[in-house]
Amino acid sequence: MGKLDNKVALVSGAARGQGRNHALRLAEEGADIVAVDLCQDIATVHYPLSRPEDLDETVRLIEKLDRRVVARQADVRDPVALSSAVNDGIAEFGRLDIVVANAGIAPLGADVPPIGFMDAVNVNFIGVANTVTAALQHLGKGSSIICTGSLAAFLTRDAGPDANGPGGAGYTSSKKYLAQFVHDLALQLAPHNIRVNAVHPTNCDTDMLQSAPMYKSFRPDLAEPTREDALETFPMMNALGGVPWVEVDDVSNAVLFLACDDSRFVTGLQLRVDAGGYLKVRDYTP
Ligand SMILES: NC(=O)c1ccc[n+]([C@@H]2O[C@H](COP(=O)([O-])OP(=O)(O)OC[C@H]3O[C@@H](n4cnc5c(N)ncnc54)[C@H](O)[C@@H]3O)[C@@H](O)[C@H]2O)c1
Repeated sequence: MGKLDNKVALVSGAARGQGRNHALRLAEEGADIVAVDLCQDIATVHYPLSRPEDLDETVRLIEKLDRRVVARQADVRDPVALSSAVNDGIAEFGRLDIVVANAGIAPLGADVPPIGFMDAVNVNFIGVANTVTAALQHLGKGSSIICTGSLAAFLTRDAGPDANGPGGAGYTSSKKYLAQFVHDLALQLAPHNIRVNAVHPTNCDTDMLQSAPMYKSFRPDLAEPTREDALETFPMMNALGGVPWVEVDDVSNAVLFLACDDSRFVTGLQLRVDAGGYLKVRDYTP
């Protein structure tokens, strides 16, 4: 028996990286999946986003687990496309129990124009709100919403321009908004017995991290830093000694915990999967 038998989960950003892994982890525990992803690039994001073939591969892997999947190319910035994907999922499965609002971008770079700020906010925060909005009318008692933030949500910022450009500032802002949103929404949905929690990863070994703009943000001293250059500084985010990043499974385990009844009385939690990174930027506040 799985922890999520007879449940249905909506996962955004499911074509690759953390989103694909979350979808597979939930499917392993018995859930059927509604998988959405943009599957095309965004101009201010200077690394490739996923492709339709990536979403096809997610479908293949879920079906290999003998679970069912409805996969749609949809932009989380587009409420109509999201509603259509959710409605297709409801038509196929008849219910929705879990939302994993995971899709995100990191439009880092000093050369990114100001619209990069809005792109980050629109995908990473408004996109999460849109995903919840599309799902909410279908969620009943015992449902669980999980939103993917970042350790960035807890960073304090220096005054003045962000070294990672407006898209870098937008990334941090979007994750801070998300954390507040999760807190506030959790209170509103608690009387309906719907739980809302956030997972906040530190560096995670995906294409977002393993990208030229991310390497540059960790090694601004170098013109074109490589993965090896960045590897020297990745551990500085984390308190646990020498840890450069967490793996997708580490985050998926947290998502599974929040999705299933093991966490049935947990709501409004900001669950950091951050190798202790938070400890380095915040004092203890009860
Ligand atoms: N990788 C890290 O180091 C790290 C650290 C902290 C938080 N995060 C967060 O984790 C989440 C997942 O990122 P990842 O590491 O798997 O990166 P990733 O780039 O591998 O995957 C992100 C997925 O989201 C999709 N996506 C992007 N914009 C979209 C849109 N507008 N609509 C629908 N889909 C869209 C992409 O196509 C891609 O498939 C993001 O919210 C990210 O901010 C990542």
